[in-house]
Amino acid sequence: MFLQLTTILLHLALCSATKDVVHFSVNSAQGDRTPVKEDNSAAEMATVTVNLQQAVNRIGSHFVGVTIDSQQIRYNWNSFGFGSTKVQNMARALSPSYFRLGGSAADYMTFDPTNQKGHKGENLQGGQVYCSNFTTQFYMSVDQWDILNKFLQAVGWDFIMDLNALQRNADGSWNPANARQLLQYSASKNYKIAAFELGNEYNLYPSSLAVTPAQLAVDYVTLQNLLGEFPQDYYSSFLVGPETAMGGEEKYFLGFLQAGGYKTIRASSFHSYYFSAQEKYLPHFTNVSIMNYLGGKIELAMTQTRQVDPLLPVWLSETSTAYGCGTANMSDRFVAGFLWLDKLGLSAAMGIQSVIRQTFYGFNYGILDLDLNPNPDFWLTVLYKRIVRGPVFNATSDRSDVRAYVACANPDNFKAGSLAFYFLNPNDYSVTFDLPQFDAQTMLIYALTAGDSGGLLSKFSALNGMKLEMSGDNLPDLKPLSAPKGPVSMAPYSFGFVVLPEARVSICLNQ
Ligand SMILES: *[C@@H]1O[C@H](CO)[C@@H](O)[C@H](O)[C@H]1NC(C)=O
Ligand SMILES: *[C@@H]1O[C@H](CO)[C@@H](O)[C@H](O)[C@H]1NC(C)=O
Ligand SMILES: *[C@@H]1O[C@H](CO)[C@@H](O)[C@H](O)[C@H]1NC(C)=O
Ligand SMILES: *[C@@H]1O[C@H](CO)[C@@H](O)[C@H](O)[C@H]1NC(C)=O
Repeated sequence: MFLQLTTILLHLALCSATKDVVHFSVNSAQGDRTPVKEDNSAAEMATVTVNLQQAVNRIGSHFVGVTIDSQQIRYNWNSFGFGSTKVQNMARALSPSYFRLGGSAADYMTFDPTNQKGHKGENLQGGQVYCSNFTTQFYMSVDQWDILNKFLQAVGWDFIMDLNALQRNADGSWNPANARQLLQYSASKNYKIAAFELGNEYNLYPSSLAVTPAQLAVDYVTLQNLLGEFPQDYYSSFLVGPETAMGGEEKYFLGFLQAGGYKTIRASSFHSYYFSAQEKYLPHFTNVSIMNYLGGKIELAMTQTRQVDPLLPVWLSETSTAYGCGTANMSDRFVAGFLWLDKLGLSAAMGIQSVIRQTFYGFNYGILDLDLNPNPDFWLTVLYKRIVRGPVFNATSDRSDVRAYVACANPDNFKAGSLAFYFLNPNDYSVTFDLPQFDAQTMLIYALTAGDSGGLLSKFSALNGMKLEMSGDNLPDLKPLSAPKGPVSMAPYSFGFVVLPEARVSICLNQ
């Protein structure tokens, strides 16, 4: 592989009290495969401008959430380890967080309050990936529900439950009888459920099952009324919808909102994946055109939501790299981090309030593997939550090969006023950047690279060169490299965070 060193210089305008505009200057991307001449680097510079005077979004502690697919219950939770201390510690490392139980199988699942112990017939051995059989009916027993709720209580996650929307009356309206049984039982156990959704990706239902957007809006009112029957327990739980995805979702999404759906929900929601798991094409995972594809989806969801309600939050409520259970040996490897980190950056910059990752466990895109060890995206998710929180700034670049995002650093873990940059270098050459304006300041660097010789397809990632693995049941320290000043080199195919604890950015100080 030919490695070419290019240089990013961050030229920052002087930080006066009134003007904190940050300019990043970057060498030409076109230097990629030809040596950069010392004397023309200035001419080849591109500029990334970050406006620190105005936040474009504000992300909270629940910005990043995770799912488990309802399909796992069909297989009696497969190999998932609710009782494992290691798994609980990994889950706690993401707390606070939303947790969504949902997916296609949600619309085929019925709660059976008379069955205390297990529909174990469809148990799979060895945690296989079984990406089929989503659309036949199955039951959830009481113990299968209990074990999940106890786990969520133990790890401090806030539960979002996706209810079966295909239980319908003869007139086509939603029949809430089974949902009522589930709530009665859950209330008797004091199970907290933060939010509910009704069904999954209705716009993809086969026409024999079609639920129109207008009908769904009515069904959401029925669900809201059902929650009203539980004034002690679920009256203040909120609704999220319409959970549409991929193809034709625009019409359905807007149709639901316009039919009055927006009055019942606390966030409008859509799903997004970049490509099909069948494509199995590694270059997709580092392709900036594919990263940008998500921007169009977000724009549409934001615009349509703003049309009916200027203040309603918008959620990307189920998302991963490849639909159809993830690409085997890619969606769970180091390379998946490019699309994941870029998705978080783009979503934060475009105004999304919550991004919920499919999945915490299960299929080929889990952030845990089927043996309950962390995949590279687990570490990336933990780091993101620890490092990035609060006001988000607009960073624009005229150089397309390097991605840069800027936000306040999480005040729980960093000094007030700290700034967090995150960068992606999805190229086969290294990139060096410099922060001359913060020259005299310490930089905390978290650089992520492949964790072993597997490269992009590594099952591991390394933080500042240290391979990341659980240490028994516990997470290792995720320590930054403290660099006094000077250029930072980003290895080929790497991404990472840089925190400036002394930046004293006013918006970050006053958040
Ligand atoms: C698919 O679902 C049906 C009905 O629940 C079940 O009988 C069957 O064993 C499942 N097949 C597989 C391959 O899991
Ligand atoms: C990146 O994706 C775009 C859009 O799908 C495609 O046209 C282009 O060929 C891809 N590049 C590579 C290297 O695969
Ligand atoms: C994934 O990689 C493993 C070895 O790491 C191999 O056994 C398996 O066949 C691969 N799966 C696919 C679908 O390529
Ligand atoms: C970000 O900055 C660019 C360039 O100045 C501008 O075109 C864009 O509208 C800005 N976006 C937001 C959300 O402010």
